[in-house]
Amino acid sequence: MHSYVDAASAPVRKTGQIKLHNAEAFAGMRRAGRLVAECLDMLVGVVRPGVATETIDRLAAEFARDHGALPATLMYRGYRKSTCTSINHVVCHGIPNEKPLRDGDIVNIDVTLIVDGWHGDSSRMYALGEIPRRAERLIEVTYEAMMRGIEAVKPGASTGDIGHAIQTFVEAQHMSVVRDFCGHGLGRLFHDEPNIVHVGRPGEGTLLRPGMFFTIEPMINLGRPHVKVLSDGWTAVTRDRSLSAQFEHTVGVTDTGVEIFTLSPGGLHKPPYPA
Ligand code: MF3
Ligand code: CO
Ligand code: CO
Repeated sequence: MHSYVDAASAPVRKTGQIKLHNAEAFAGMRRAGRLVAECLDMLVGVVRPGVATETIDRLAAEFARDHGALPATLMYRGYRKSTCTSINHVVCHGIPNEKPLRDGDIVNIDVTLIVDGWHGDSSRMYALGEIPRRAERLIEVTYEAMMRGIEAVKPGASTGDIGHAIQTFVEAQHMSVVRDFCGHGLGRLFHDEPNIVHVGRPGEGTLLRPGMFFTIEPMINLGRPHVKVLSDGWTAVTRDRSLSAQFEHTVGVTDTGVEIFTLSPGGLHKPPYPA
């Protein structure tokens, strides 16, 4: 279905062809990915009950500026914040606001930074104080689902293999995979081909080749998979108001497997984070 093109000689826009990147591009993605991961590490010390998501957003924006990066979401398709902050039954694209986070909340913080033109895109869950056991389970399953998806990445595998690894694991835990949003190619563009759907069948979809960059960012619900977007045009919530969680890494396909660009330098991969 898709054809592939040397990214270095392709126009920097969506062309329908999948860009294959060289060693210099991998170096750029390592810098962008590391900075995003450092930003998410920094936020571990910030996210606590009483803090507004607006404050988190401002601190992420300042972190970006202080490190010579640009938040990719700022003024992206009319979005006006540097992060997405998705609380409890919000699936994704929650807009930071003045409302304080509360004990027992779970929140996904999604940061995309542009460093020297390269996009690093990652999100993690954060837990506020004591959270319900079912929320802990959801977060565990979502993290494991993302990692199983990443482990399926290697040359010769397909996007369907990624989706299959995620879907079979999640559904065996009696949770559901959101269909309405997916991972995406990225690099010098924020959102490029191919889509990385988080459900699928082995061997289907797009063939993975060395030099591809994309995100894996499954959204997992405790209840049904269906979502609706609120009247602000962004905030996606579960239709049944069940809890939702997400993790996101930016990865590259190497000659032998996969490289994760957005690994936490502090080892702060998932909650519970050390106090
Ligand atoms: N960072 C999100 C992603 O993982 C995209 C957010 S776009 C925004 O692809 F406009 F909602 F910020
Ligand atoms: Co993304
Ligand atoms: Co993201």
